[in-house]
Amino acid sequence: MKIKLLVLAVLQTVFLGVFAQQNPLTIEQPKIEYQTNPLGIDAPAPRFSWKLHSLKKNTTQLSYQILVGYSEKMTGKSLVWNSEEVASDASHLVDYQGKTLQSRRRYFWKVTVKDNHGNEASSATQFFEMGQLAPADWTAQWIEPEKEGFDEKKMQPVPLLRKEFVSKGKVVSARLYVSSHGLNEIEINGKRVGDALLAPGWTAYQSHIQYYTYDVTNLLKVGPNAIGAMLGDGWYRGFLAWENNRNVYGKRLALLAQLHVRYANGSEQIVGTDNTWRASNDGPLRQADIYMGETYDARLEKAYSTAGFGDKIWWNAKVQDYPKNNLVAPAGPPVRRVEEIKPLKIFKTPAGETVLDMGQNMVGWVRFKVKGAAGTTVKINHAEVLDQKGNFYTANLRTARCEVNYTLKGGEVETYEPRFTFMGFRYVRLTNWPNEPALDDVVGVVIHSDMATSGTFACSSPLLNQLQHNIVWGQKGNFVDVPTDCPQRDERLGWTGDAQAFARTAAFNKDVAGFFAKWLRDLAADQKPNGVVPFVVPDALRNDIGSAGWADVATIVPVDMYNVYADKRLLANQYPSMKKWTNYVRKEAGESHLWRSGFHFGDWLSYRGQDVLFSEPVTDNDFIATAFFAHSAQLTAQAALVLGKVQEAVAYGELYEKIKKAFNQEYVTPSGRLVCNTQTAYVLALHFDLLPDNLRPQAVERLVADIKAHKDHLTTGFLGTPYLCHVLTRFGKNDVAYALLNQETYPSWLYPVKMGATTIWERWDGIKPDGSFQDVGMNSYNHYAYGAIGDWMYQNMTGIQLGEAGYKKIIFAPKPGGGISSAKATYESPYGTIVSEWKIENGQTKLSMGVPANTSAQIALPNASPERVSQLAKAQNLKVKNGMIEVGSGMYSFNY
Ligand code: BGC
Repeated sequence: MKIKLLVLAVLQTVFLGVFAQQNPLTIEQPKIEYQTNPLGIDAPAPRFSWKLHSLKKNTTQLSYQILVGYSEKMTGKSLVWNSEEVASDASHLVDYQGKTLQSRRRYFWKVTVKDNHGNEASSATQFFEMGQLAPADWTAQWIEPEKEGFDEKKMQPVPLLRKEFVSKGKVVSARLYVSSHGLNEIEINGKRVGDALLAPGWTAYQSHIQYYTYDVTNLLKVGPNAIGAMLGDGWYRGFLAWENNRNVYGKRLALLAQLHVRYANGSEQIVGTDNTWRASNDGPLRQADIYMGETYDARLEKAYSTAGFGDKIWWNAKVQDYPKNNLVAPAGPPVRRVEEIKPLKIFKTPAGETVLDMGQNMVGWVRFKVKGAAGTTVKINHAEVLDQKGNFYTANLRTARCEVNYTLKGGEVETYEPRFTFMGFRYVRLTNWPNEPALDDVVGVVIHSDMATSGTFACSSPLLNQLQHNIVWGQKGNFVDVPTDCPQRDERLGWTGDAQAFARTAAFNKDVAGFFAKWLRDLAADQKPNGVVPFVVPDALRNDIGSAGWADVATIVPVDMYNVYADKRLLANQYPSMKKWTNYVRKEAGESHLWRSGFHFGDWLSYRGQDVLFSEPVTDNDFIATAFFAHSAQLTAQAALVLGKVQEAVAYGELYEKIKKAFNQEYVTPSGRLVCNTQTAYVLALHFDLLPDNLRPQAVERLVADIKAHKDHLTTGFLGTPYLCHVLTRFGKNDVAYALLNQETYPSWLYPVKMGATTIWERWDGIKPDGSFQDVGMNSYNHYAYGAIGDWMYQNMTGIQLGEAGYKKIIFAPKPGGGISSAKATYESPYGTIVSEWKIENGQTKLSMGVPANTSAQIALPNASPERVSQLAKAQNLKVKNGMIEVGSGMYSFNY
């Protein structure tokens, strides 16, 4: 018997091997709207994407055919759309063009492609399910659990809601659609529904609110069932921004939930929120707030989401007539628990406090174990750093308490983790622990928007690898549904300046297509009628000032996202907002084409020198404002062109030229000196192409001279920093870019690394060399803005650049330097994995590149003469054009 099995296994392998040889083409990662088999999407014409994987070089797609059906058969009556065979190489974001898709319905789909080598491949059958497409689909009603008459200025107990219902038979499928004012967590029959955290996320609530869709089939049982819900204050009505600011979106929590149960006999039962739902404020969560933390009394736990629970003393929820035409399916991934971290050590500080070191400045919370007498309250506090003496330091959190108070129910070991808050911390302080706490009493739970990792970067410098690590962790901690400035103090807002600085880097590290699509929709919704983009999105500050370099996020991020993901629909959605912003500044600037009005943050947190030999490196705000005005006009013109709006492209192009002219007259001397002799001034003028060709070389020299005068240190802030090394490399000063990157003393990227940072700091000198701190009023140790150097590391160190939007064409232009002997990056593009790797050893350069199927690339070999390039190309039968080697898909290596 055993031998028979063995023979079978061998035969199978041989057969599969042969089979694989015959089918060198496969389809991978079939997705719809960037998601795999999603539930509850609401795009009327969702878009299909897939990746070709080929064992052969130079593979391109010749045609595709998409089938969509009500069932997996996708033939006859069950066929919903047959695209027929389309001669096209499009494999990314292909529009659905079949019959109107219906609410809550599941559709199956698959794609078949043919390639240029005569191979054909089909994807496995996939599905997608539509959500609630029309307001009328919501038969449930918005309900509020709280009674009148509480103090709205104070945190309230987290209300509980419940509803029992009887399931009449075997359930084939069940879906729960949920939204809320405030955060929600739902349970069915005592079990948590789904794994989304901080649902329904933070949007411009006054404009639109997300609902989440859950498959709850397995949570239901025949007979009596119960649904329970908890509602947290969250961003909706909790503390937000400063000075005890609360209730930004409303004063009352509310729930909207609709359960659709389908039975084997085809019948459907709907259970929706209405005035029969029972409510209570006697739950265990006595307080929950994003900034403040949680207060939990385990003695008040109850099985409220199980059938038969006695809710006699509860009251009926109140129905409210809130709109339902503003409910949208999530465009981006939900926040989830993404990883866990074990603390490195537990110790007593000089002040005698018990503190754990997580070894990483992280965002989320801790799950802890504790055993003790009922009624004992333990306290957990969170801090990013220890002070000079080694004591627990929380002053930089400002009024954010970031504290968990847990009252034990007593008996067995109790485990707890919060749900309606999050903290940014590396150190955890335990107070009033019943017994001596142990290292394994605590686990760090890292939460963030669940974006897939798209890029990896490593090189021969351990310090630069730590910098990359810090950039990635800055991204994890600040991509918690909204791109925030910081995750710890009483702020955590969607600061637009920070987001525009970092978006391009973010797209290298993680798949941010959905994340930014969601946020850009909020941006457009929160844009003022006059075109002003507020400081923060969602607009929790309710301000109506457009600051240069902050509000320009409206043009910068959509174009960044278009470049990376070739998502025309996103660009088209944002285009009106882009225009509105550019037109607003045009109006402000008037005929002068110089933007000299308003308030601007300027080159925020730039280095302020103390050396008397140097003038203070301050870049005038009106200089910056006009430079960004030009940039926004240029980006709007580019977007218009992509969208086929030629006349508008010409008009914004002309505007850009006029601004340039005015800029040169106002801020540039005839010999090319800028009125502000700062690194940022030269960087912006060069990066935005504001100077005439003949004045560029000397502008570059002046920039370099300034860097040299500062002994290879940067002086740039939030606005200059992202472009600094790009400008240097572009204008032939790659060595200077590396000198800045490798700089280990303040101000530099590696100074915090040398000081032990595990994330990117808000300020170049958050901790001074003597261990003292920067201004306590604004000193975050997890602020991603300066992490924008990551973009340069990927694009120039490893040289992965865009040849065409979405990486349909790739340019490899690695620029070794700075004593780095090797570097490698991978990047998961819409077409597949791009790889770029180089090594320099004993004067030999070894390069290898991976080009995904259905794309092509141009390779610029570093440190090789044109003759050498020709030779190397010829040896592999490759063509050279403009000094670059042209290749189709496949792996390539060069050794010289
Ligand atoms: C934030 C920033 C933001 C800035 C505006 C700060 O409080 O943390 O990162 O961009 O204000 O200048």
